[in-house]
Amino acid sequence: MDPRPKSVVLIGMMGAGKSSVGRLLQKRTGWPRFDMDEMIVAQAGLSIPEIFAQHGEPWFRNLETTVLTGLSPSEPSIVVTGGGVVLRPENAAMLKRMGTVVWLEAELEILLERASRRRNRPLLQTENPPATLSKLLETRRPLYAGIADIRIDATRLGHEAVTDLILSELEKGMAPERRVG
Ligand code: S3P
Repeated sequence: MDPRPKSVVLIGMMGAGKSSVGRLLQKRTGWPRFDMDEMIVAQAGLSIPEIFAQHGEPWFRNLETTVLTGLSPSEPSIVVTGGGVVLRPENAAMLKRMGTVVWLEAELEILLERASRRRNRPLLQTENPPATLSKLLETRRPLYAGIADIRIDATRLGHEAVTDLILSELEKGMAPERRVG
């Protein structure tokens, strides 16, 4: 028996709905929720745009890994990650060990629409945000696929429906990666 608690880890691009679905999962399961971006903001005492502006992305990535390293839930939890967490292999390995990794996907236009609602995505403050997001997605897609146990296309689903799907997949128990939704 694996003694580690099986948590639910949400991965995927910015705008995929990880934070909202994480909150709903917390409500429905009663499990604690750890949102890595929130923890980074709390540790730095700065917003995400301020971190990027004052310290740059490498500093943010170091803090992201530090936060993840310090996160070893002693009970099943909901872990919400930032979209770039999979860029470091050591992060990916830590997430994989935590439990069931759920990859929330959505079509590019939807991601862009949702991620642009608030100006809190420094990586998208470029001249051509659609091209930037598309490039990020291209790089990251294989990394998400590499650690996902469950993959959900949330393009045409509301957050409640995505949450229902995750919970029903969890009830079925672990299975090889499959696409649902
Ligand atoms: C990032 C995504 C953000 C946040 C930071 C970097 C990324 O989190 O961690 O702006 O590299 O995709 P969300 O995925 O919650 O937007």
